[in-house]
Amino acid sequence: MIQVANRLHTVEEYYFSRKLREVGQMVASGKPVINLGIGSPDLQPPQKVVEAIVNSLQDATAHKYQSYQGLPELREAMAAFYKDHFSVNINANTEVLPLMGSKEGIMHISMAYLNEGDEVLIPNPGYPTYQSVTKLVGAKAVFYNLKAENNWLPDIDALQKLNLSKVKLMWVNYPHMPTGAQPSKIAFRGLIDFAKRNNILIVNDNPYSFVLNENPTSILSVEGAKDVCLELNSLSKTFNMAGWRVGMVLGSSTHIQNILKVKSNMDSGMFYGIQKGAVEALKCSKMWYVTLNSVYKKRRELIWKLAKALNCTYDENATGMFVWAKLPQGIKAEEFIDTVLIENNIFITPGTIFGSQGEGYIRFSLCASTEAIEECIARVNR
Ligand SMILES: Cc1ncc(COP(=O)(O)O)c(C=O)c1O
Repeated sequence: MIQVANRLHTVEEYYFSRKLREVGQMVASGKPVINLGIGSPDLQPPQKVVEAIVNSLQDATAHKYQSYQGLPELREAMAAFYKDHFSVNINANTEVLPLMGSKEGIMHISMAYLNEGDEVLIPNPGYPTYQSVTKLVGAKAVFYNLKAENNWLPDIDALQKLNLSKVKLMWVNYPHMPTGAQPSKIAFRGLIDFAKRNNILIVNDNPYSFVLNENPTSILSVEGAKDVCLELNSLSKTFNMAGWRVGMVLGSSTHIQNILKVKSNMDSGMFYGIQKGAVEALKCSKMWYVTLNSVYKKRRELIWKLAKALNCTYDENATGMFVWAKLPQGIKAEEFIDTVLIENNIFITPGTIFGSQGEGYIRFSLCASTEAIEECIARVNR
């Protein structure tokens, strides 16, 4: 019997991988399950993006290995995107690295900066990958609690009281998934001062800035941020390109160089056509965002109705691709979603998969048609 590496014992199969198998079995047995669980955009990318990948296929270099740093025109488009939308100056040659989705960046950054035994500050509730990657590289997760009464922002005074001697890295994610909480420039300023005081690298994971959010904000727009911060961004949600796998990491040239050292040993460049499509996406005009958000706005209004029908409450000021809803007092999230799955054939994510602070909450995805959401409301009302 060949033994697996010890690191494999530190993680479990991803919740959605397990749960979607169960949902798949229900569908196979004829149950009309509607999936409001996962945040995989069902809408199409911009047409010119699809045309760009198709047209690129005959280019002379289309099928060769590509540069580890991506095409210069892709990096330039990423830098221009940051200038236009966040007023952040990025040197396209040295301060941005294209990624195959921001998820892989979480691993690359962790590989570049963490030794075994180092500690990492991770939001609770938060995206589960921060924890699993931390464990896979042999570092230790130290959770910091986010609370509704603090608008799901970190309590820096509480963080400062911790023993931070082994903390090397801190994950933050604003706009926040799963709660949809917005960052403020003041909160970002506080985080940067905290990072400088304690010699901690902060990474803001920022894939939801453009969904139902009037105020896209980058942590890099705060003065001095590049000394201690990196930012991840992604085309997955902004341009309905989740399956394409395109993201980016931005920050000082030194940090980017360190991440490239890891990444260049793991893959051999991103497919040329995907890069050409990504360039077109990043150049989209304001109309793209307006149209996208008009669809999500209608869906969110219906999800709010559904949440009400399920006796949940929610914050109408939250942003992003999900509705984070509070269950009536005393109801356990996982029991609740299992009941709704069995009785109504509706799959909703329990808040607990994002950490213990998610108990008592559920997360609805807006990646379902208005017809599907209306059908969910009808089922619950019945
Ligand atoms: C908070 C957060 N970060 C990162 C990702 C990964 O996105 P990508 O498709 O860019 O890898 C997700 C995807 O669901 C997410 O919710």
